[in-house]
Formats: sequence, C-alpha cells, structure tokens
Amino acid sequence: MRIAGGCQLKGEIEISGAKNLALPAVVATILTEEPVTLRNVPNLADVKSLLELLDCFGTEINYKDTHTITLSTRNIKSTLAPYDFVRKMRASILSLGALIARYKKATVSLPGGCAIGARGVDLHIKALEALGAHIDIKNGYIEAEAPKGLVGCDITFPMTTVTGTENILMAAVLAKGITRLINAAMEPEVEAFCELLNKMGARITGAGTSVITIEGVDSLHGTEYKIIPDRIEAGTYAIATAITNGKVLLKNCEYEHLASFFETLNLVGISCEQKENGVLISCNAEEIHPVSIQTAPYPGFPTDLQAQYTVLMSLANGGSSITENIFENRFMHIPELARMGADITIHGKTAIVNGVKKLAGAQVMATDLRASVSLVIAGLVAEGETVVNRLYHLDRGYENLEEKLNNCGANVERFEV
Ligand code: EPU
Repeated sequence: MRIAGGCQLKGEIEISGAKNLALPAVVATILTEEPVTLRNVPNLADVKSLLELLDCFGTEINYKDTHTITLSTRNIKSTLAPYDFVRKMRASILSLGALIARYKKATVSLPGGCAIGARGVDLHIKALEALGAHIDIKNGYIEAEAPKGLVGCDITFPMTTVTGTENILMAAVLAKGITRLINAAMEPEVEAFCELLNKMGARITGAGTSVITIEGVDSLHGTEYKIIPDRIEAGTYAIATAITNGKVLLKNCEYEHLASFFETLNLVGISCEQKENGVLISCNAEEIHPVSIQTAPYPGFPTDLQAQYTVLMSLANGGSSITENIFENRFMHIPELARMGADITIHGKTAIVNGVKKLAGAQVMATDLRASVSLVIAGLVAEGETVVNRLYHLDRGYENLEEKLNNCGANVERFEV
C-alpha cells in the first residue's frame, strides 16, 4: 500500500460492524438447529475464514447481502476444527464451547503462538473441565467430551479473557443448572454477545459486569441480530483524524464504548464530541500533548489501540510512556516507526516515546493487524511516500480502509509487486 503523506482528513467515515463480536456471533449460531440471521457483519478476511470452518462443520451459509448472513446448523457433519483453520484464525477456538455444548464433543486444534504473544487457552480448558468436560491434549489437539452434558458451577478466571469468557458462555447456556463467571470480561462485545445469546433463548444476567450468571436451558432457537459498531475501527480513525489535524464524523460510533479512550484524547488536545449519529473528532490544539497510558481490560485503555496511539505520541510535544499489559509482544510496530523517524525505546513492557516534529515516509513491514494500521496512520502524516508491505493483516480487520480514508482526502492506493 502506497500512502502519500501530508493529507488532512475531513468528512465522514462510516464505522463497520465489530469484528470481535462478529466472530463469536458466527460461532454461536452452531448452538441451535434453527437459522440465525446476523446483520451488519463486517466484510473481513477473518470473518470469511471462520465461515469456512463452519462450512466444514456442515453449517448452511446464505448471504442476503454483503453484510447480512443467515446461518443454519441443522445437522453437523464434523466436530473437528483442524489445525489449518485454527492456525489462520485464532477465534476458531470458540468452536470448542459451542460444539461441546450442543454435540457433547469437540476436537479443536490448539492455536499455538502468534505475532503478539503466546496467547494460551489454558483458562478456556480449565473452565470447561470445571463444567464437567473430560479433556485430553493429544497431538496438538484439544479433545473434549461430556457424554452426559455439562453441569453449571462457579468459575473464577484468574485473569480476564475475552474469548475465554465467550467460550464458556456458550458452554454454559446449554449446561444443567447455574454457572457464575467471576472476573468475566466486560468488553462491549462480550455484553453484546450475551444479548445475542439471550435473543436465542439463553438466560444470562450480569452481562457487562465482572460477574455473569447463566441459567442453563434445554435448547436455543433462531433469531436475528445486528452486530454493534467496531469501537477499535472507530478509535483508529479518531487517531488518524487527530494526527492529520482534520475533522471527521465517525458515523455510528458508540461514544460510551470508547469513553475512557476519548477522555485520554481530550487530554492530548483532541476534541471528541458526541453527536446524534456518531462522534465528531477534531484537533483543537496547536500541538499534541504527551499523555502516558497503560493498556488494561475494558474499561481501561484498549490494547487494540495501543499501536495507533504510539504513532500519535511519537508526534507529541514532549515525552510519554506506553505500557502494554495485555500481550507480551505487542511492540512490533516500534522498530518500523523508528525507521520513519520516531524516537521510541522499549524497556520491557513499556515504550518511552519522545515526540518528534515530523515523521518521514519509508518502506515498512506490517506484522499484525493493529501494527499494520498504525503504519498506515503514520504514513498519512509522514513527509513523502510510505509503502506498507504484507497487507493481508489489514484485510483481516479493516473493511474498505483505502476507500474510507480516500473519501476524507487521503491518498492511499494498493499496488501489486
Ligand atoms: N490468556 C491466557 N490464557 C488463556 C486466555 C488468555 O494466558 O486461556 C492471556 C492472553 O495470552 C493474553 C491475555 O490473557 O495475554 C488476554 O487475552 P484474551 O483472552 O482476553 O484475548 P483474546 O480473547 O484472545 C481478544 C480479541 C483481541 C484483543 C484481546 C484483548 C477477539 C477475537 N480478539 O483476544 O483482538 O486484543 O481480546 O482485548 O475478540 C485484535 O482485534 O486485533 C485482537 C487481537
């Protein structure tokens, strides 16, 4: 992707459906034999990969339009999630909870490490065992079975896990009795996921808090559900707007889902105004003020916006620190930003950023989804041309990125090499 630096973003950007809700929502459709229609599904490579896995299971997939899909899993052909799928698409691990809940058995590949860290699934496994599943790890696969079904109990997560919470929610909705998830993830996507499950007939209370209670039911039914807007996509464009000294309305963005992030941007000198149909971002300061952050589970600063925020801080009028508390290897964008002239040093899980006056265009390499988009944002303000290689990461999580940016005055294009 070639990015010509020096634009000022102005206009409107429509925020797509949330990737990190669409993924568990697609998997949750396996919990019922009736059709489930999902609306506002983002058109992303990650969603397509997961749909291919459901196709392997025997799910019928019908697209009504690009963003509306009806899924029905009347009869399952297989309860195996092969390595090739899970390796490509970590969220495939969510099939473990759904398959064992409805079919009482599942064989799901262990995901292995990824570009941002080891990302274990031990908490998913321990919680399923607590619900009565018998689990063997064999040849890189998790073999789980619960011939008599799962039985509800209290589960305390030693650390918050987003997909762990979602996996166990799916296992518990069809278990006998009551399950309580303590220290459950509170992310808006998890809360919305509970809403979807309740629309399918589940009995879940406490969604959006750290204690979720699930009263098991015998079966779930079909429904229709609209995926909430992607707060990470919105936060990404908020930073892109601020850094280019622009003014953009993020259409559909839910202010509440990013409240603490917007408060941080306010301290930086960026105005984030809640409007009827979204959030209006504009940079009302002469300069970007340095504000240190630490990533934390919701409602803290999202790890998925850390790389983009690092770019913003690299142009601040002073020094700041950025501490990554969720993933152990999520600073891969920093050496690339340094090639563009950023002054950042890494000390363990903290990056010390000294603001510079300007960045310079360069050839850079994308390493994961959020790192990739941070390089694109840096390219928007860098002097000269930036070329970002390995674009497939971007397509996993940003729908129509070039179109959305170019409609607001950017000059971004893809080319084949
Ligand atoms: N962890 C374990 N063991 C487990 C589960 C998690 O050690 O069994 C650790 C992880 O290694 C990590 C921390 O706990 O250090 C938190 O991981 P979590 O399970 O919450 O992450 P996730 O569910 O795998 C989701 C998002 C990520 C997002 C994180 C944190 C989806 C599909 N993915 O991952 O999104 O960064 O929560 O908010 O929902 C992205 O969109 O770019 C992305 C990486």
